[in-house]
Amino acid sequence: MASIKISDRIYWVGAKDPSLRVFDLYVKTTYGTTYNSYLITGDKVALIDAVKDGFEGQFFEAIAEILPIEKIDYLVVNHNEPDHSGAIIELLRRNPRIQIVCSKPAVPFLRNVINDDARPIEGVKGGDKLDLGGISLEFMTAPFMHWPDTMFTYCPERKVLFPCDGYAAHLCPDDSMYAKVGDPVLEHEAWYYYDCIMRPFAPFSRKASEAVLQREIAVVAPSHGPINADQPKHFIQKYLEWTAPKIKSDKKALAIFVASSYGNTKAMADAIAAAIPSDRFDVHLVDAMEVTQERARDIIEAADGILFGTPTFAGDVVKPIWDIAHLLPSVSATGKKAAAFGSYGWGGQAPEILEGYLEQLKLKVFKPGAKARLVPSLAELDECRAFGRAFSEFVLG
Ligand code: FEO
Repeated sequence: MASIKISDRIYWVGAKDPSLRVFDLYVKTTYGTTYNSYLITGDKVALIDAVKDGFEGQFFEAIAEILPIEKIDYLVVNHNEPDHSGAIIELLRRNPRIQIVCSKPAVPFLRNVINDDARPIEGVKGGDKLDLGGISLEFMTAPFMHWPDTMFTYCPERKVLFPCDGYAAHLCPDDSMYAKVGDPVLEHEAWYYYDCIMRPFAPFSRKASEAVLQREIAVVAPSHGPINADQPKHFIQKYLEWTAPKIKSDKKALAIFVASSYGNTKAMADAIAAAIPSDRFDVHLVDAMEVTQERARDIIEAADGILFGTPTFAGDVVKPIWDIAHLLPSVSATGKKAAAFGSYGWGGQAPEILEGYLEQLKLKVFKPGAKARLVPSLAELDECRAFGRAFSEFVLG
């Protein structure tokens, strides 16, 4: 059997990819993955999500076990990333009658997937329902979990939640598609999936998880890995745990990551740190050469303001600071306030290079950064203190 019945009138009709070892070019998939699709068979028939391009064989074979593909009336697209939308073109070629239903933000993405401006696409909003006759679906928007288009679909009659990439794991079970909560591999892979895919959007994941916990849920049927009918709310609750702040404080948090070969940029960092009002801020002055990536990510997530101290070496930002800056896309950092500073021998453009990168990541950047040539003079250290005070005001403002 290629398909699996998961509830009355609801079937898993996805595809398995056991040999995948890297997903989206950076996520290790030690155990492969699955591309889950679900068939809902009321008087009308809906398919929730498709599979990755190249896996149509398994997908269509699974559907054909339940009913002819021509019987499908609706395709519900929870999310447009190609691991779920890749097979849509072939699906529509085989059944051009299918009506596509997706969130309103998903409509332009779908246009770029199918490249057919003539095909009607129905954009729905949270709370909209689709009555299939004997069973129905309700749509719940979950923007930025992890794309702007993401929505969850819920079947109230069977209390099955289809949360797309939410609460998923890159696992490819060769026996049962059902989760065994507490299994160490599942627990780790679910966390790793969150850490890689959802963590950059942690506040959005938290909001969606809080909302969905209010529902009665008997089964969570995600778009990758096992289906959870064991303790269906387990990973939803885990998302609340994982999205909680790791570093707590009543004050604002200000992080200063600094790399310094000869102590000049470090002297600037010390002067800046001393000027930050301690009654308003917890200051984390961090040696970029020493901090672990995980600790740096926690500090970035907790920080209201982030300063990067980098000398200019060979016309560029130094590697330990690039390594920290390159962690920004992996956590929730959009909108945070940031600035750069550093010493130099000649040139001195590293702060400007970093400012451009930070702006591209949509951080709010305070400019210009402080600079000192070689050993900071007393006047340059005064400028660093002024820079620290001004940055504090920028963060508070
Ligand atoms: Fe599984 Fe965001 O795609």
